[in-house]
Amino acid sequence: MSGDRRRSGNLLTDSPELYEARFPDPERLAGRWAEDTLRRYGAGPRVLDIGCGTGRDAAYLHRAGRAVIGADLSPAMLDYARERHPGPEYRRADLRGFALGTFDAVVCLDSALLYCHGNDDLDGFLGSCRRALAPGGLLMAEMRNGAYFLGRTDLLDTPADDAFTWRGTGYRSTTTLRVDRTAQLLRRTRVWTSDDGSPPVEQRSAWRLLLPQELRHFLTAHGFTVLALYDGPGPRTDPPWRDGDTPGVTADADRLHLIARLDTPQGVSAHHQPRTPHA
Ligand SMILES: C[S@@+](CC[C@H](N)C(=O)[O-])C[C@H]1O[C@@H](n2cnc3c(N)ncnc32)[C@H](O)[C@@H]1O
Repeated sequence: MSGDRRRSGNLLTDSPELYEARFPDPERLAGRWAEDTLRRYGAGPRVLDIGCGTGRDAAYLHRAGRAVIGADLSPAMLDYARERHPGPEYRRADLRGFALGTFDAVVCLDSALLYCHGNDDLDGFLGSCRRALAPGGLLMAEMRNGAYFLGRTDLLDTPADDAFTWRGTGYRSTTTLRVDRTAQLLRRTRVWTSDDGSPPVEQRSAWRLLLPQELRHFLTAHGFTVLALYDGPGPRTDPPWRDGDTPGVTADADRLHLIARLDTPQGVSAHHQPRTPHA
């Protein structure tokens, strides 16, 4: 578990193969949901998957016929994506401020957007999306729902233990989540131990606790119209999304799914209109 300068301090992000082993998606649910949603809202073919991680969703969208760029801050993730999920072009970029070309859709899955901790970060992300999107382009994101933690403490403050074996080494983790109300962040402390003789490693992460109405306000301020903002069904909900499911209307459960369209400047015709599934 020792680090080098390419490491981010997150064992799972630094070990993409382990990441996929811990969060398997053999049926490519996230990719299928993303493709279904892009079709439902009539997105054109050029897609940026920002915070693409191991590249499995970017590669799914590529196989579906889209021209995909996958971008991430982690060199380890990008190396893995190029080798294991080829097809898309993979680039290193920070989602808080990027310029990677012009796209018909930007997708940002599994809470990557919530690495925008401050309002300046969110402005940087949404400003970059606005500049990256063709008129009428779509922004699609899937993440934790900050509103879930209003009045609920079931996920908070109690250490949760996990154990698994990977490549012959046993790993144990103890994870504690807490709400930092001042910073409006969900903070995670995770202590890893392994039976390979390495000393315990403590790792910290944090996600912005974004509330649905707050997100709507940011999007409107950046020139987007929110088409859908709902808690499920989605690729990480219980029950999970299935082919043919339509977007919900509440934003109460622990995941949030966002679809927004960049407003079209007057005089520019946008061909993207909502469509029925697979129309
Ligand atoms: C939970 S993973 C999600 C990966 C992928 N979207 C998925 O659904 O499997 C979050 C990803 O965001 C990336 N990330 C974190 N901060 C970032 C930043 N500032 N810019 C770009 N990527 C970032 C991490 O390296 C990691 O790959």
